[in-house]
Amino acid sequence: MCSIIGYSGKEMAAPIIVKGLKRMEYRGYDSVGVATESDNQIELKKGIGKVNEVNLKIQLDTLPGKVGIGHTRWATHGKVTDVNAHPHSSNSGKIAIVHNGIIENFEELKKQLENEGYSFKSETDSEIIANLLQKNYELTKNVRETIMKTVSEIKGHYAFVAMFENGQLAAARFHEPLIIGVGQDNIFLSSDVLGFVEYTDNAIYMKSRNFIILDKWKFQILDFEGKDVKYEITKISKEFGDAYKGDYAHFTLKEIYEQPDTILRAGEKTVDAITKTADYIKHAKNIYITGSGTSYNSALIAKQILSKYAKIKVETIISSELQFSPDIIEENSILIAISQSGESADVLDAVRIAKKVNCKIISIVNLLTSSLVRKSDVVIGMNCGPEIGVAATKSFTSQLVVLYKIVQKLSNNNITINFENFAKSILKILENPTKIQQIAKELKDISDIYILGRGINYPVAMEAALKLKELTYIHAEGIPGGELKHGPLALMDSNVFVIIINPNDSTYSDTLTSAREIKVRGAKIIGISDIESDVYDYWIEIPKLDEILYPISEIIPIQLLSYYAALEKNTDPDYPRNLAKSVTVK
Ligand code: AGP
Repeated sequence: MCSIIGYSGKEMAAPIIVKGLKRMEYRGYDSVGVATESDNQIELKKGIGKVNEVNLKIQLDTLPGKVGIGHTRWATHGKVTDVNAHPHSSNSGKIAIVHNGIIENFEELKKQLENEGYSFKSETDSEIIANLLQKNYELTKNVRETIMKTVSEIKGHYAFVAMFENGQLAAARFHEPLIIGVGQDNIFLSSDVLGFVEYTDNAIYMKSRNFIILDKWKFQILDFEGKDVKYEITKISKEFGDAYKGDYAHFTLKEIYEQPDTILRAGEKTVDAITKTADYIKHAKNIYITGSGTSYNSALIAKQILSKYAKIKVETIISSELQFSPDIIEENSILIAISQSGESADVLDAVRIAKKVNCKIISIVNLLTSSLVRKSDVVIGMNCGPEIGVAATKSFTSQLVVLYKIVQKLSNNNITINFENFAKSILKILENPTKIQQIAKELKDISDIYILGRGINYPVAMEAALKLKELTYIHAEGIPGGELKHGPLALMDSNVFVIIINPNDSTYSDTLTSAREIKVRGAKIIGISDIESDVYDYWIEIPKLDEILYPISEIIPIQLLSYYAALEKNTDPDYPRNLAKSVTVK
């Protein structure tokens, strides 16, 4: 998933664009580039690396002109090279573009354009947009007609911003996000409000199959048939201004430490949606819960607590799997879609399949301006604020709190959770990370970590493994405790670390036994428990809690452990290699 941004205004464009790209870098960070227009000339700079690195190397922010476009890339077509970085210019050099998404018919269009004498420098699908625009502009000599003709020829999900030599900007959206920032005397065209939130809180969320053409900072918004469309300007909530690291070294650390607060806020702005969800669940024939990655791990925990505390059976589905067995979804059922970004292509695809058989869609989502929200009948906001770090931390625990609140409703409140006290106990875990920092040093040179958990602690083990993989690049695997002797025990030797998730719940003694079986095979053991034991080489203490709350208290120390281990291994905790914050392509 890439970031695209365009700016037209009274200030020099390049520094503003570079700053906007920095704030959107979590969306993809293989390479970065900027192009500006000055005196009817387009100048362009781009390179491999993160925004600050490339800016330091080739001074992106010194490009002249008050109109410009910029891009950070998460490679889909074409390797991570300078040439494949955006922006891409047309053969004439009179048009430059930045693009997010995929052009599905780019080979066919590329061949057609090559036959007409156009040449290509990069391996990307995006570059064809630049030459197609040039061809259509030379035909029509009109930006509006050019955009309409071009969008009628390209297929796929995309958003692009085009800059013409005369300084005119235009942008089109087909599925991929495109948001207009409307300032006093400037306009932004961006993938994300973070690209312009420090300049204006007036946003227009472009609809799919719409495009915008600018002349200076006057603009017109039309549909792909060229008809003017109505739009509304909405105020961006102040919390997006919080998307700064503050005095934390990384967004990931900041977001881990925000959890005592976000635990208290989860779902609080959509209480009636929680009530409605409980009601829908109570009367539903079949209930399915879907998500990807961390959000799927939340779905696994939801399955356990709904059956244990509300006697309700649900089926969990990995979103990317549903397309291969769509018939498992009974018609007129409920699909609960969990997604922090609300833009994961796999989740949106699962929702599309469920809607085809008339399912009610309930979403548990953080970004209330996302595509998933527009496709849902009921929306529960996680309300945890922007999560910039690619590894999900506060969003996971916010999802769990929302699920706890749904279970509370379904159990007619005979499950009572004192979230104030719970948040205080989480604070205690975070107050003193020294021991966890010490243990993280021990992980520096190991290549395999296993995480064991039983019952509700098994999905936590899966989430722990995902955090360790993403942040440290160490191979990490979650194992259901009872499965140990059915194979994984063969992996245990003095080269591995094993994290035993062992709260004082119904799984405690069996899990302690598993820990002993592993210990005698030489593995190092990290125990996550409210009870100390000599079997642990390292004990990370968690508070004694009601059973339902243990998953949150277990994962937070492991988030910290993963973060500090990432520092030991010199990875970049906020932007792990090869990943992006929201996977908007399938
Ligand atoms: C989690 O740490 C990962 N970043 C990833 O697995 C993520 O949870 C997944 O891509 C789903 O994202 P979503 O919640 O925005 O749909």
